[in-house]
Amino acid sequence: MKMENTKHHRLTSFAETASEAPLQEPDRQYYFIEKAKDIFAEKCKEADRTLTFCVTTFGCQMNARDSEKLVGILEQIGYVEEPDEEKADFVIYNTCTVRENANLRVYGRLGQLGRIKKKNPHMMIALCGCMMQEPEVVEKLKKSYRFVDLIFGTHNIYKFAELLTNSMQSDRMVIDIWKDTDKIVEDLPVERKYSFKSGVNIMFGCNNFCSYCIVPYVRGRERSRDPKAIVREIERLVADGVVEVMLLGQNVNSYGKNLEHPMTFAQLLQEIEKIEGLERIRFMTSHPKDLSDELIEVMSRSKKICRHLHLPVQSGSSRILKKMNRHYTKEHYLELVDKIKKAVPDISLTTDIIVGFPGETEEDFRETLDVVRKVRYDSAFTFIYSKRTGTPAAVMEDQVSEAEVKDRFDRLLKEVQTISAQRCAIHEGTIQKALVECQNEHDPSLVTGRLSNNLLVHFPGDPSLIGRLVDVSLDECKGFYYMGKMKDTE
Ligand code: SAH
Ligand code: SF4
Ligand code: F3S
Repeated sequence: MKMENTKHHRLTSFAETASEAPLQEPDRQYYFIEKAKDIFAEKCKEADRTLTFCVTTFGCQMNARDSEKLVGILEQIGYVEEPDEEKADFVIYNTCTVRENANLRVYGRLGQLGRIKKKNPHMMIALCGCMMQEPEVVEKLKKSYRFVDLIFGTHNIYKFAELLTNSMQSDRMVIDIWKDTDKIVEDLPVERKYSFKSGVNIMFGCNNFCSYCIVPYVRGRERSRDPKAIVREIERLVADGVVEVMLLGQNVNSYGKNLEHPMTFAQLLQEIEKIEGLERIRFMTSHPKDLSDELIEVMSRSKKICRHLHLPVQSGSSRILKKMNRHYTKEHYLELVDKIKKAVPDISLTTDIIVGFPGETEEDFRETLDVVRKVRYDSAFTFIYSKRTGTPAAVMEDQVSEAEVKDRFDRLLKEVQTISAQRCAIHEGTIQKALVECQNEHDPSLVTGRLSNNLLVHFPGDPSLIGRLVDVSLDECKGFYYMGKMKDTE
């Protein structure tokens, strides 16, 4: 039985509301935003206060951008943001399932939310994102987490206003999950977390099927956005105060292959570079197998593309890379890195590494350490291999023992940290441009800026600097960040 709440007072049913909705998108969602506004006003009257929301995001930048879309719609409807999810009336978890522990965190926190919901009759809970694309997850929620009001997936997130209206008018759990989509809906409201920088989706989904990875199953097939829509979105962002964009895709290097008029990622970058007022361009993620000479060329000439490349290697062993279905060898990867370093000498390189992939031997692991030493990454995200049901690696033999994985993980982390501290130190004493992002959390007399190479610098300054690009001297390297001083006040 679902908990008693105020929903049954609603006079119109969702079916009635939906019968008058336009079929065309995004018009249909704007119609539902208006409907949701009315229902929301009624709910606030019943509660005698303005109802609040909290969106909690797990996982990658793609999810973070999706959450901004959810917030955009919630704010249009009238909900007010409440940062503490235990106090909010509408809690949304935008979930990630890339590793097992991401899922476990969601279940743990959800149990806690269920207890809070018993005390707040106006409370609603929604779950969305990658985890919801897994049928076993939805079965489990239906069975053991009946207090959840709304469940939707990654492909129909653009229908959030419609789904929310449905949920507000229903006494039952509303579930809508699509297996895949070829649709991209543009021009819905978005509320950015930062006024001066923004993520911009350039493509959705992934076609690579690395054998350990669940992303292609939960995010669907690769779809590139129309370049004109991307440029138009960035122009609007710039007009609204944005100076830095992060172009987002699971494999940005394969951008544009399936467009009606195919274009390369390097060509797209050149179009974006022309946008006046835009100061910095970042992108994520680059798959080594598709990183072209054309892209390296464009990066070396660009005034706006940041001196940072995230180039996940995953493993240094060609044997393991083959089993991972990565389509490159250790040698190919190292050659690529050499080429990039020659063309862009001040480039900062970062990576992702998985330890303990099925069948990984001590020898394979040493190949990974060797790559780390040869490339000398500015930083690296290291992950313990996590078995994802449904992926080819999950049924491979020779899963590595926990003790061995732990030992390798610790050795790798030590190596990575030693090298990144040395890399960070080489910039000490230089003056570089930093985009001021926020006031320092621990010391309000300081602000924090991000350098082109993605490192952070803390320096004396006041919050009026936020969103500005300023010259900063990097006086002291603290391992993975700097303390500095601002040089110009133009
Ligand atoms: N599209 C990006 C990565 C997205 S997932 C790319 O190809 O680089 C982010 C990172 O999570 C991956 O780079 C990988 O290192 C890690 N990852 C993905 N699946 C994993 C798994 N099953 N176990 C451990 N780490 C995993
Ligand atoms: Fe996963 Fe590989 Fe696609 Fe990245 S490229 S999202 S690791 S399948
Ligand atoms: Fe996680 Fe989905 Fe991103 S599984 S890493 S949130 S694409």
